[in-house]
Amino acid sequence: ATSAQAADPSPAPVTVAHRGASAYAPENTLAAIDAAAELDIDWVENDVQRTKDGKLVIVHDTTLNRTTDVEQVFPHRAPWNVADFTLKEIKRLDAGSWFGPKFAGERVPTLEQYMNQVSSNRQSLLMEIKAPELYPGIERQTLDVLRRQGWLDGHHVKRRLIIQSFSADSVKITHELRPEVKTGFLGTPAVADLPKYAKFSDQINPSYKTVNADYVAAIQAVRGAHGRPLEVYTWTVNDAPNAVKVADMGVDGIITNTPDVVRDAVEPA
Ligand code: G3P
Ligand code: CA
Repeated sequence: ATSAQAADPSPAPVTVAHRGASAYAPENTLAAIDAAAELDIDWVENDVQRTKDGKLVIVHDTTLNRTTDVEQVFPHRAPWNVADFTLKEIKRLDAGSWFGPKFAGERVPTLEQYMNQVSSNRQSLLMEIKAPELYPGIERQTLDVLRRQGWLDGHHVKRRLIIQSFSADSVKITHELRPEVKTGFLGTPAVADLPKYAKFSDQINPSYKTVNADYVAAIQAVRGAHGRPLEVYTWTVNDAPNAVKVADMGVDGIITNTPDVVRDAVEPA
């Protein structure tokens, strides 16, 4: 290199399709990860919860009525908690029509079905354990499914999987059960508390509305659970100006419903 050459720019942040490419297909369905794949998006985010009969499913809200036709199918079961329905019941629900007629018949995926599709699309996964306080033991159960499907082996666990939660206890449990898995804490902890989170996390993942360049730098100045600088993946950024803004702050990842918009805004052509 000569002094006339510019220094290497820092790499563009990773673009993560939030609940899949959820601006274009119903969130947390196989159609949503396929929509991300069609846009050549490698990373998808999801939310894991548990049914009444102990099966893991991919759904964001702790109730089923926003993203399925549960109110029509089971009108007397309000408030339609995920935890109050068996997998067989949940599989009767249409998780696509609310989004658009072309997605009619889309189902709430099991974790196994979801992981198979992520694998067949050759994608990587930022998995959120949602509301773990409702589902004791969900971390171990999730890791068991991932192990059985080969996601804790070699390249996958090193490069293609991150498990995150808004619950520090849940992140800690995941880290202690399987220290090789990369983990993220969702939230905006005080800078003084970062070393505490860094004991069991590799990432701190805050809302983009809560960050500035100094905060991003303060996070990245701390070493995470695997000895590398803590990363920052921020959410949920759905427009180009905000994507450029957080990229300029130096974030490592951007979680977005519109991954094509974000990728085009932050990656060099
Ligand atoms: O991955 C970050 C983001 O998913 C956190 O918020 O409510 O969409 O799960 P939420
Ligand atoms: Ca989430």
